[in-house]
Amino acid sequence: MIDLLITNIRRLITCAAPAGPLRGSSLAAAHALDTAALAIDQGRIVAVGSSAELQASYSASAQIDASSYIAIPGFVDPHTHCCYAGDRADEFVRRIQGATYPQIMAEGGGIMSTVRATRAASVDALVAQTRARLDRMLAHGITTVEIKTGYGLSTEHELAMLDALAELERTHPISIVPTFLGAHAVPAEYRHDPAAYVDLVVDEMLPAVARWWTEQTVWDSPLACDVFCEAGVFDVEQSRRILAAAQALGMTSKLHVDEFEPLGGTPLAVELGALSADHLVATPPDHVHMLAHSATVAVALPGTPFGLGHTHFTPARALIDQGGALALATDCNPGTSVCESMPLIIALACRYLRITPVEALHAATINAAYALRQHAHIGSLEPGKAADVILLDLPNELHLGYRFGVNPVAAVIKDGQLVVDQRAS
Ligand code: NIG
Ligand code: FE
Repeated sequence: MIDLLITNIRRLITCAAPAGPLRGSSLAAAHALDTAALAIDQGRIVAVGSSAELQASYSASAQIDASSYIAIPGFVDPHTHCCYAGDRADEFVRRIQGATYPQIMAEGGGIMSTVRATRAASVDALVAQTRARLDRMLAHGITTVEIKTGYGLSTEHELAMLDALAELERTHPISIVPTFLGAHAVPAEYRHDPAAYVDLVVDEMLPAVARWWTEQTVWDSPLACDVFCEAGVFDVEQSRRILAAAQALGMTSKLHVDEFEPLGGTPLAVELGALSADHLVATPPDHVHMLAHSATVAVALPGTPFGLGHTHFTPARALIDQGGALALATDCNPGTSVCESMPLIIALACRYLRITPVEALHAATINAAYALRQHAHIGSLEPGKAADVILLDLPNELHLGYRFGVNPVAAVIKDGQLVVDQRAS
């Protein structure tokens, strides 16, 4: 007797990619089964196949009839800053009136504004505010989310953010993959000596975070370290120094590159063997080519240019056509992309990145899992993986991103449990 059998699934897309992230033309090929079933036991998928076969082979203590729905893996969101206090709606209005994001940042607003609010919040308040965002993400089909620190920017406050993330991992159904982003901005108190802040990150914060990581019992994979490599934030040399120090402490690397200006962060990500290079809006063609031929996953965040009202997006088509591996993320944060919906990100990606719904689906599931090095456990519907499944109220996968502005997610099964049920009764 197994725990759960999902039967009569109109169409199931596996998103399987056992031999590395889907690259180039393989991103566009859907592995689909019609009238399918999923057998689930103890939080894991035990079989994927035709409904008739699985109904004959398994008896289950619970069944879900999914004849009205398609099934895909839960979305994996590999880049967010969704743990923060307060909001920046005032800056949104200022940008509508003509101020730019770098201008607001240079004035001491932007990220620093959220740093002030986050430092002032208790861990409990931070957990409560973030929990509400995770509830909405789950309702939009996200079953694993990467969350960066980076609104503390002191050893004490960065560790408080990690404490908040650990509490959320223990108490919320979404799986959280934390990333240390102490180098998200130079805090106001170091504005006149940014080099001293880089020293603080390398000499004090990274060792303290590495110690915290060794002592915690919530996660067992290595922690990633990220840097915002951007004009006026951290340059390539500073980014290399921070990430090399993190690697020496056993951390993996991720990098914010080319969000506004092409500083040379993409070659650095490739040089360091980073798990991912993220943003990639201002990336020059030779760096797109280099990334496409590397093991580093390209993470596009179309909610960010959209959120800023910009018209330039990641050259994802060129990257994929040269054999690159693309993933998609919300970048959920209070400044540039106040977005908790992966279906909306897919809709934006189809239009502005010129990728097909199937390419976008793979980018938001299995390739996103590779960008977090979680591909052995999540990102596809295959026996042995976590039973993270979403049922969508769509006729087939081509409708993903086609209809937008409403939530197509009818049900979310996380680790074998029905945690969101919005099915028509
Ligand atoms: O990914 N680029 C840096 N970080 C975020 C913005 C964070 C913020 O504005 O608070 C981003 O766009
Ligand atoms: Fe970001």
